Amino acid sequence: MLKGRSLVEPEDFTLDEMEVLFSLAEKIEKDQKYLRESCRGKLLASLFFEPSTRTRLSFEAAMLRLGGNCLGFAEPGSSSASKGESLADTIRMAASYADAIVMRNPKEGAALLASRYSSVPVINAGDGGHHHPTQTLTDLLSIKRLLGKIDNLTIGFCGDLKFGRTVHSLTKALSRYENIKMIFISPSELVLPEYIKGILKNKNIEFSERENLEKSMPELDVLYMTRVQRERFFNEDDYIRLKDTYVLNTEKMAVGKESLIVLHPLPRVNEISIEVDSDKRAAYFAQAKYGMYVRMALLSSVLGVI
Ligand code: NCD
Repeated sequence: MLKGRSLVEPEDFTLDEMEVLFSLAEKIEKDQKYLRESCRGKLLASLFFEPSTRTRLSFEAAMLRLGGNCLGFAEPGSSSASKGESLADTIRMAASYADAIVMRNPKEGAALLASRYSSVPVINAGDGGHHHPTQTLTDLLSIKRLLGKIDNLTIGFCGDLKFGRTVHSLTKALSRYENIKMIFISPSELVLPEYIKGILKNKNIEFSERENLEKSMPELDVLYMTRVQRERFFNEDDYIRLKDTYVLNTEKMAVGKESLIVLHPLPRVNEISIEVDSDKRAAYFAQAKYGMYVRMALLSSVLGVI
């Protein structure tokens, strides 16, 4: 069904297609031998023009666990982009070596451009402040696994909602589910971009914007914390002023629901105090693991081995 398809933004896949990926990921989680050698002989080009630990490693781990291999680079300095090669040429070259490409790039729209020049599937691992659809698959699978549903939920997003691409992708994706209420908590300088608010308004999604995290805590089923995206600021002083606006600690957790789950795409800086890690509602490390399973499901599907 997904054979040969690229994933540039969350809405490239239908809800049914995503559901198939979630079931596949759950199957892989339960039976670690399932699909183990299915990608033998296949190559994944991993082109990271921007730093990454989790996303790159989880894609590479996913491909290796499926029996395939990876090639690529982890920083632009080690690619021909540093010699002035265009993205289109880099992609055409990688597509002639590999069976699929996963790319992270600081420019918004880079993944869409890459998908147009590539003869093999392109998976967007983050394009600037724009989208990060495989993190969204990870987030949705985590919600489904931990709460048993992705509807009738109140979800709070907290932190850098202006530059955080994981928030942009997840809000768009969640707007397709039933009865989702969203609460956006940020300083006024880091509010959600107007174009995303426009999408939510068009779809009649109930949402509010606030500055206070503690007061919002009791309402939430899911709290999605994010770090302030230092690399997207034009001015270091602004970053320093805003970076510690929110720190989730045990006092704030105390007013949250028993059934709350706390997600974070990671890396965490200061926005979740380490004392929260031992709270059973802290789900960000489990979330990272679901990310690997869903990427295994995605790779085996776009490579057409399943
Ligand atoms: C996120 C990203 O790169 O946008 N990280 C990730 O992929 N897990 C979030 C972030 O960097 O803050």
